[in-house]
Amino acid sequence: MTIWIKGGELVDPVRGVVEESDIMVERGKISKILPRGAFLEAGPGLKIIDASGKHVVPGLVDMHVHLREPGEEYKETIATGAKAGVVGGFTSLACMPNTIPPNDCSSVTEFILSQAQKAGLARVYPIGAITVDQAGEVLTEFGDMKKAGVVGVSEDGYSVADSKLMRSAMEYARFHDLTVICHCEDMHLSAGGTMHEGVVSTRIGLPGIPAASEEIMVYREIALARLTRTPVHIAHVSTEESVNLIRRAREEGLPVTAETTPHYFHLDHNAVIGYDTRCKVNPPLRTPADVEAVKRGLSEGVIDVIATDHAPHSPMEKDLEFDRAACGMIGLETALPLTLALVKEGLFGMAEALRKLSYNPSRILGIPGGGLSTGSPADLSVIDADTEYTMKEEDFHSKSKNSPFIGVVLRGRNDLTMIGGKVVWQRDSTHIDRR
Ligand code: DOR
Ligand code: ZN
Repeated sequence: MTIWIKGGELVDPVRGVVEESDIMVERGKISKILPRGAFLEAGPGLKIIDASGKHVVPGLVDMHVHLREPGEEYKETIATGAKAGVVGGFTSLACMPNTIPPNDCSSVTEFILSQAQKAGLARVYPIGAITVDQAGEVLTEFGDMKKAGVVGVSEDGYSVADSKLMRSAMEYARFHDLTVICHCEDMHLSAGGTMHEGVVSTRIGLPGIPAASEEIMVYREIALARLTRTPVHIAHVSTEESVNLIRRAREEGLPVTAETTPHYFHLDHNAVIGYDTRCKVNPPLRTPADVEAVKRGLSEGVIDVIATDHAPHSPMEKDLEFDRAACGMIGLETALPLTLALVKEGLFGMAEALRKLSYNPSRILGIPGGGLSTGSPADLSVIDADTEYTMKEEDFHSKSKNSPFIGVVLRGRNDLTMIGGKVVWQRDSTHIDRR
């Protein structure tokens, strides 16, 4: 079947342009891109997707999600996480290894990939653990895991405390051509803390996590990248000094990339004043000055990627005293409008937003996607950038509802997700194609 996506504004982050173009999809691939109106009207066997008034964008790529399977399927499964992903406009998800058991060997990687295949929704790319059982002592078998399908390694949720081991991990990763994604936290310095250490933590009486606990490790990872000449990617950047360190590393020409998440550019530590555990995340929400620095980092291109750190938790882990609650918030279904808010603010344009949500993460992980060009797989989303709505708990497709954006008026949302030429999700439609 041939599909004609007509009438939309095509956003191409590779060329950095937004233009009125129609797309023809045949046999799962983009077969033609032509100026709007250049195609002839329908014939038999032609399906039309009307994208008038909407943007047609490369499918979003989230390089940092927690899918919780195996082990915590009551919070999320690969199928429910993939569903939340495609609803949010994501066609590819890279999932972190802190499952139970962790993804620290090829059999877990194979299991994740087979569950993703069964779900038949988003493309899922597993990230392997750096150390066995994420215990920080023995490196995992990077080569075995790579053969099984991991696209990177990370100890996300923890840092590798032993710098010599981390150095070996980087050298080993470079040999196997795997992206190293660094969760930066000096676990001794952050121990016991539940929110950012500052005026708010003092006022409301919660133990703090100093910004330095992140920055020390950002500095170490940059120093090790310099030593080993291995590309490193800094996960969930939250402080001003982290942004400064990454900026300097880039000026020096080091192979350092970075991501942040929408909660670090929309929320600050004042959100914790009511002890709302949905705002308990790791790293913690920082100061308004940090939020401004993260935004500056995004607009200058020092921060390459907007990921979600989608971290589903059930009421069992969240409806608790603040200090006992788990860290994390869901993000797959709110990342797009929260990023479009920065476009609206004038921080960057639509094409740059798609670079951060799609092109850059694909390049950093070395996976397909991130562009719309003739011959490439038809992984794309059709988004309505202007519609305004109040996000409701029942709107989420994720199994968990731990989002502080419930009840918030958002602007912009995904309306249709296509993967490999199949419509895997469409708003207001019960029909979907199986991948
Ligand atoms: O807030 C977080 N939640 N940060 C992490 O590093 C881990 C994640 C989780 O797995 O819940
Ligand atoms: Zn994470």
